[in-house]
Amino acid sequence: MNYKSNNILITGGAGYIGSHIAENLIKKKAKVIILDNLVTGYKKLINKKSIFIKDDIKNTARVNKILNKFNIDTIIHMAAYLNVSGAEKYRKKYYNNNVVNTLKLVKACKNSKVRNIIYSSTCAVYGSVNGLVNENTRPNPAGYYAFTKYKAEQIIKRYSKKYKYNYATLRYFNVAGASPSNKIGEIEKSHGHLFKNIAIQSLKKRPIINIYGNNYNTKDGTCIRDYMHVSDLSDIHIRSLEYLKKNNRSIILNCGYGKGYSVLDIANILKKINKNTAFKFQNRRKGDVDEICSNTTKLKKILNWKPKFNNIEKILYSAIKWEKKISRN
Ligand SMILES: NC(=O)c1ccc[n+]([C@@H]2O[C@H](COP(=O)([O-])OP(=O)(O)OC[C@H]3O[C@@H](n4cnc5c(N)ncnc54)[C@H](O)[C@@H]3O)[C@@H](O)[C@H]2O)c1
Repeated sequence: MNYKSNNILITGGAGYIGSHIAENLIKKKAKVIILDNLVTGYKKLINKKSIFIKDDIKNTARVNKILNKFNIDTIIHMAAYLNVSGAEKYRKKYYNNNVVNTLKLVKACKNSKVRNIIYSSTCAVYGSVNGLVNENTRPNPAGYYAFTKYKAEQIIKRYSKKYKYNYATLRYFNVAGASPSNKIGEIEKSHGHLFKNIAIQSLKKRPIINIYGNNYNTKDGTCIRDYMHVSDLSDIHIRSLEYLKKNNRSIILNCGYGKGYSVLDIANILKKINKNTAFKFQNRRKGDVDEICSNTTKLKKILNWKPKFNNIEKILYSAIKWEKKISRN
């Protein structure tokens, strides 16, 4: 595909995953415009070859102007709040940003050239599912964060005919790791992500890993998740865009590797590196489900995709290497 003619707006492009996707698209010579209010995004993650606009997706009229000024044909919509416990506590705030603001963004597409929207959804929309979950499974959001992400999915679908765009709803499983170049990784600490927490602790002489819940219905009582390296996820976005352009039809895809690891499995990787690592069992977090792993059949078939970074130890090491780097700056 010729990317030179692609003008892509990434909402939340100053964030952890968005900055990876921006870098990949820029390498392919696409024109990338980043729209981010920097609430959990970072200037240092913004690719220097992108055009950065500090604004909020809620400003429909201004966003519409941006879409037209830059002839945007694709929006990769990543802007959201994403702390699972935070969503339970601050429901209105999460509803406004994840649902209402998605609606405002979609409405900004009226009278624009936007023909594709790629949306960052989450496997949490399925709730707790035993075995590998596929895209035909009926969503059953377990917590409020998942509920807001599912509502936004529905909005994007509902307006697709009216505003004449196709959409790719990508349901990410858990995302982890830093880029192989060690130039981009997760900076924000507030999301409560396991790999980030372990990476922070790994820099201490006596790391303490907080484990939320040890009485889940799993092999060792801790939650089981399917962790995907951020570079593989980024590649899926590029392929999804190619799919939308080539086939002119919408898709929903699970983005995971199809293999689950418990929190204890991951924490034990650090314990192997540093035997002083201690585990501290805390209460369950509201909104967490026992287990969720992806059936990857559709992803592999439709996008002809193969994972490149699916080694759990290497994913954790990349997160640790990144943490070391940012702790020095
Ligand atoms: N990280 C994961 O494991 C994971 C898993 C499933 C889904 N997701 C989804 O992926 C997306 C990106 O997540 P991330 O991990 O990169 O988080 P992140 O916090 O690093 O990125 C989100 C970005 O959106 C920006 N933002 C938030 N609200 C905004 C608004 N109203 N206007 C403009 N910018 C706004 C933030 O400043 C930030 O840069 C989110 O939609 C999230 O729900 C992430």
